[in-house]
Amino acid sequence: MSVSALLSALLLLASTASASHFYGGSMSFNSRKNTDGTYSVDIRFKEAYHSCYATDSWTCRSGNCGNRTSFVGGQVDTSPNGGSWCQTEAVVKRTVPNNSPFQLQQSGCCWIYTFYDMYGGNWGLLTHIDLGERSDTSKPNTSPVATTLPIVRVPQNCARNYNLLSCDPDKDKVRCRYGNSSANECGICHQPAGFNLDQSTCTLSNFVNGSRGFYAFELVMEDYPTQNITLNYTAMAAEVRSPFINSSSNPPLSKIPLQFAVEVEAPAPSCIEGEYLPRFIHPTPNQGEHLQARVNQELEIRVKATATFSRISDVVFSGPLNSTKETTTTEEFVINWTPTSENYGQHFPICFIAEGQNGSRNYQSEMRCVIVVVEAAGPIAQVTCTKDKMSVSIERATISGLHGDHLRLNNNASCAVSSNETHVFTTFSLSGCGTQIEETDEHISFKNTIVTYDNPNHIITRKNLFKIEVMCKYQKKSSITTRFDAHRPAVNFTERGFGSFSYQFEFYQSGSFINKRNPSSYPLDYNVGERIYMEIAPVSVIQNTEVFLESCVATPYDNPNYPISYPIITNGCGVDETVIIHTSHQPSVKFSLEAFKFIGQYDQVFISCFIMICEANNPNTRCTKGCTNGTQVAPPSHVHKREAAIQTDIHFISQGPLRLKRSASFSDAISQSLNMNLVSVAGCVVSVVSMVCGMMVYKSRGSKGNQTWTSSVSATFCVSSGTPGHSNTGK
Ligand SMILES: *[C@@H]1O[C@H](CO)[C@@H](O)[C@H](O)[C@H]1NC(C)=O
Ligand SMILES: *[C@@H]1O[C@H](CO)[C@@H](O)[C@H](O)[C@H]1NC(C)=O
Ligand SMILES: *[C@@H]1O[C@H](CO)[C@@H](O)[C@H](O)[C@H]1NC(C)=O
Ligand SMILES: *[C@@H]1O[C@H](CO)[C@@H](O)[C@H](O)[C@H]1NC(C)=O
Ligand SMILES: *[C@@H]1O[C@H](CO)[C@@H](O)[C@H](O)[C@H]1NC(C)=O
Ligand SMILES: *[C@@H]1O[C@H](CO)[C@@H](O)[C@H](O)[C@H]1NC(C)=O
Ligand SMILES: *[C@@H]1O[C@H](CO)[C@@H](O)[C@H](O)[C@H]1NC(C)=O
Ligand SMILES: *[C@@H]1O[C@H](CO)[C@@H](O)[C@H](O)[C@H]1NC(C)=O
Ligand SMILES: *[C@@H]1O[C@H](CO)[C@@H](O)[C@H](O)[C@H]1NC(C)=O
Ligand SMILES: *[C@@H]1O[C@H](CO)[C@@H](O)[C@H](O)[C@H]1NC(C)=O
Ligand SMILES: *[C@@H]1O[C@H](CO)[C@@H](O)[C@H](O)[C@H]1NC(C)=O
Ligand SMILES: *[C@@H]1O[C@H](CO)[C@@H](O)[C@H](O)[C@H]1NC(C)=O
Repeated sequence: MSVSALLSALLLLASTASASHFYGGSMSFNSRKNTDGTYSVDIRFKEAYHSCYATDSWTCRSGNCGNRTSFVGGQVDTSPNGGSWCQTEAVVKRTVPNNSPFQLQQSGCCWIYTFYDMYGGNWGLLTHIDLGERSDTSKPNTSPVATTLPIVRVPQNCARNYNLLSCDPDKDKVRCRYGNSSANECGICHQPAGFNLDQSTCTLSNFVNGSRGFYAFELVMEDYPTQNITLNYTAMAAEVRSPFINSSSNPPLSKIPLQFAVEVEAPAPSCIEGEYLPRFIHPTPNQGEHLQARVNQELEIRVKATATFSRISDVVFSGPLNSTKETTTTEEFVINWTPTSENYGQHFPICFIAEGQNGSRNYQSEMRCVIVVVEAAGPIAQVTCTKDKMSVSIERATISGLHGDHLRLNNNASCAVSSNETHVFTTFSLSGCGTQIEETDEHISFKNTIVTYDNPNHIITRKNLFKIEVMCKYQKKSSITTRFDAHRPAVNFTERGFGSFSYQFEFYQSGSFINKRNPSSYPLDYNVGERIYMEIAPVSVIQNTEVFLESCVATPYDNPNYPISYPIITNGCGVDETVIIHTSHQPSVKFSLEAFKFIGQYDQVFISCFIMICEANNPNTRCTKGCTNGTQVAPPSHVHKREAAIQTDIHFISQGPLRLKRSASFSDAISQSLNMNLVSVAGCVVSVVSMVCGMMVYKSRGSKGNQTWTSSVSATFCVSSGTPGHSNTGK
């Protein structure tokens, strides 16, 4: 054998081996009648292997399966845990000449090795599609929808229920059973010991202390009508379908495969969720929740988990093609999906599992599944995102549930939302009005919420009945930002007893505090270790006052709500060891610190401080007490304010941005000392996607006996108006 022949044989072997490790698959379908009497069937199937592999090798097993008219496929999610898998989903469209039943099947070798079949074993998937017109809906049947992660893992000593959330858009009764080998519904066709399958609820449970190893589950999901119905066909005699009695008495409307693997792992030190096994916490949706999504609007599902003895390392999910996953800097995992008009009216299952790492052990949480229902279009809005503001104008007619004009942002009385007969509109600062800021590897988002507030003249409270989340989402790119590069003007505030103040935050060239850095030279560049000299001073001298630096932080954005910050001064005490406060108990405050590593994590940082102004030389002020290290002194209070006006509230003032000068050697230093990930994602905004998200809270009320209750379902959805006309790069 020549070297090249050997090599290609090895390559062939290698590719067969990797393609051979099957982790299961599933399929669902829906259909519609075309005007020419043919039927279009949209088929979605998921498959998982060691590598990402999406092709359509389904063949026609029985009936007339028509012709394939389109195919798109791609990766859904992947994980190195559980043997390393990749799940793909493909959407296939077929045109069939009539509505008679047909069956599609796919088979191959081999399953991942299971402890009862060391050679993997063949696999087989079968779907039974029957498009007969139902007498109850006058439409062809739609299959149940369900998905699972390709592999779920459970410690041997822990009992867990996997509810294979099945949802039937026709409201049929869904059942699950093991595949039947003579009907080609399975490959290994083994019903593993140590598990129980509740066929009527599609819940798989493991027994405690079952044998460790991988198990393959080859299930079939079936839908049965809840009353007798007739199926009419264009090319054959009508048939009757009846509710389920037993597996041999009457056929289902459709059969879809649902195959996946379970790994029973080494015991965990504890089975209590939240210790080693991650536990889902707010805002993770509940098991089985139905989430509304809108065509062309981004649906956002937030998943958060916690565990005392493991670090949440990932959330793995299974959902529709083109859904994505991002991690925020606050360690929420966000699954995003934007339905298209083709998805209107359909149901899509999404399941997810949180993973926690302790040393070399990786633990899974329970599996949670939700159903996304794609409904009609949501709010039509124009959102304009500029370098520091967001303007939103929403067409009233497209917002259901809005009556009256009691609207404001983030429930902040000073941030009004205006409206006229046709529109609701507002403009607000990206750093004010409680605008929340959130960052992921790819995006930086600014969000605020338009809410109704109680009309004091009304008795009925409509609090939280209506919420629209508005968002400006900026794509991060690796070039220099044009946002937030302007020198901040003086900050003005008025306080009773003190009058109006105007304070300016400036950077100086040296410790002599003579030459201000030129406002046009921002962002300011510093070398590591170089001292940064700053002053916060009144624009015009105010007699008999002193200014006190209560706290200062460095953040990558000029927004006090940014969740990650580097503390410089806290409670009047220097936290960074290089901080020097040059003047205190003076009308202005001068301070300095060394350009620090924190800047290196981001492209640029802002210094944000909270200051307060006090009557000079009064021993009872917060200013006089200086550094309090937290506990001894109550937070800046109003105690003396009203009667004596000896000190103001605390006020926010910021300046920046600052950047570290980059050199080759410096980049090396950063990549060694800091998380390189943060360096490469450093926030730079080039393109802008503006979005409006609706978060409608649908409330329902009910009562039983003398108890009344309220339940609510909320969904967030966003419309992307990323067209250049609606957005603005902030130049
Ligand atoms: C499917 O393709 C075959 C041959 O390519 C053709 O004869 C047949 O009419 C097509 N059927 C449909 C429903 O388009
Ligand atoms: C089904 O066919 C029967 C007989 O052909 C007809 O009476 C009935 O109206 C049809 N049902 C539907 C839903 O079309
Ligand atoms: C399995 O399928 C075959 C062929 O369809 C059928 O005859 C048999 O009854 C099925 N077995 C069970 C247990 O359902
Ligand atoms: C499982 O095994 C452990 C250790 O052998 C034992 O202590 C425990 O009682 C067993 N649990 C059950 C439910 O059998
Ligand atoms: C439903 O159909 C079955 C036969 O397919 C019949 O035995 C049963 O009586 C029918 N039930 C009703 C409520 O019509
Ligand atoms: C299934 O149900 C039918 C009708 O009720 C009955 O005649 C038959 O004996 C049942 N079969 C089994 C296996 O229970
Ligand atoms: C891992 O588990 C041990 C105890 O089994 C615990 O002491 C340790 O803190 C855990 N590590 C993490 C990262 O939680
Ligand atoms: C997924 O996204 C690609 C590229 O954006 C698009 O061509 C394709 O139609 C989408 N597929 C589905 C099923 O949404
Ligand atoms: C309502 O306000 C919007 C946005 O400012 C404006 O375009 C529209 O013309 C106004 N409509 C009426 C009836 O005043
Ligand atoms: C309301 O927004 C204004 C303007 O941004 C801000 O100064 C004020 O602190 C906010 N109030 C609250 C309670 O968040
Ligand atoms: C504060 O007032 C000064 C003039 O006193 C003005 O130049 C500056 O722009 C004002 N700052 C803001 C944020 O409005
Ligand atoms: C503040 O407290 C920390 C530790 O609690 C201590 O190291 C530091 O010296 C204290 N600073 C002052 C100014 O008291």
